[in-house]
Amino acid sequence: MKQPVKDALYNTMKDNLTTEPYTFEADTGFCRQNKETRAFKRFTGKTAIVTGAQGNFGSECARRLAYEGASVILWDIVPTTGLQDELRVAYPDQYFSAFNVDITIEDQITNACEHIRQTNKQVSLLFNNAGYQGEFTPTIDYPVDDFKKIMDINVNGSFIVMKAVANLMKKNNLGGCSIVNTASMAGIGAPPNMIAYSASKAAVKHMTVIAAKDLAPLNIRVNSISPAYIGPGFMWTRQVELQAKAGSIYFNKEPRKVAEQMVNSVPMHRYGAIDEVIGPVLFLLSDDASYITGEDIKITGGE
Ligand SMILES: NC(=O)c1ccc[n+]([C@@H]2O[C@H](COP(=O)([O-])OP(=O)(O)OC[C@H]3O[C@@H](n4cnc5c(N)ncnc54)[C@H](O)[C@@H]3O)[C@@H](O)[C@H]2O)c1
Repeated sequence: MKQPVKDALYNTMKDNLTTEPYTFEADTGFCRQNKETRAFKRFTGKTAIVTGAQGNFGSECARRLAYEGASVILWDIVPTTGLQDELRVAYPDQYFSAFNVDITIEDQITNACEHIRQTNKQVSLLFNNAGYQGEFTPTIDYPVDDFKKIMDINVNGSFIVMKAVANLMKKNNLGGCSIVNTASMAGIGAPPNMIAYSASKAAVKHMTVIAAKDLAPLNIRVNSISPAYIGPGFMWTRQVELQAKAGSIYFNKEPRKVAEQMVNSVPMHRYGAIDEVIGPVLFLLSDDASYITGEDIKITGGE
């Protein structure tokens, strides 16, 4: 069965993905997650923007920001009203809104920021996270139009959002502002068949360092995260199946075996859970990270 909400971005006919989650036994791997010592209420009274809010990372981040007291503005190219409604019911004293925006179109982002300004919402946090994974194809055959699309979403789009929201933060002059950009371990480790995605995420990591320098005088910190194998979820299933299909010398032709190859290459011998990505994001957004800027946190199980 295909995943309909992804039709806005992905060639689901060509991908022909299954809904197999490629999970592992709960006790697979080392250094298991412990949720008992989580922080809470670090964001009471603050307002955050989350891009890619309908996706796996974005929706988890929005839920955990809300749990810790934040009001959250949801941005995605696909509708996020379901998540908005869920959060409004769960946290009636906080503000939630959902905007359909394409982060590659500057006018849409500046209009969304203008709306926030007119409604007097004081944004101090941004999870700049929307992204597109692109094709899994060897360099020699990689389609130029997909290369450009990846660059447009992951590089231009991230930049457009970062610039517009930093201007919003500057106008508010609140201090203590924080931006987290989603890069990827692909931007560091450069896996095969992903030339455009890897290059785009290396650019996100690099833009983070420059923006951190430019925005420090405005009391805005900027950091990035570089997650590696995170599952289960859309991008996990997709990379397992499409790396198998790409038929390279690096991965098996059986998706289940590819999943095992990937997990076995990780020192912790497991993939990370989605909320193990969001924990470090919230740390970087919070005042706990007040002396950290221009930094990238690899979330890779030791890779
Ligand atoms: N899942 C992983 O294993 C993994 C690993 C490393 C990095 N990442 C990165 O993390 C981020 C989130 O990934 P995810 O797993 O949640 O993927 P996802 O596909 O579930 O979510 C991505 C979201 O971004 C939105 N989006 C894409 N293009 C957009 C545009 N032009 N304008 C507005 N919204 C747009 C999509 O609609 C989607 O809701 C992405 O940047 C991805 O590249 C993911």
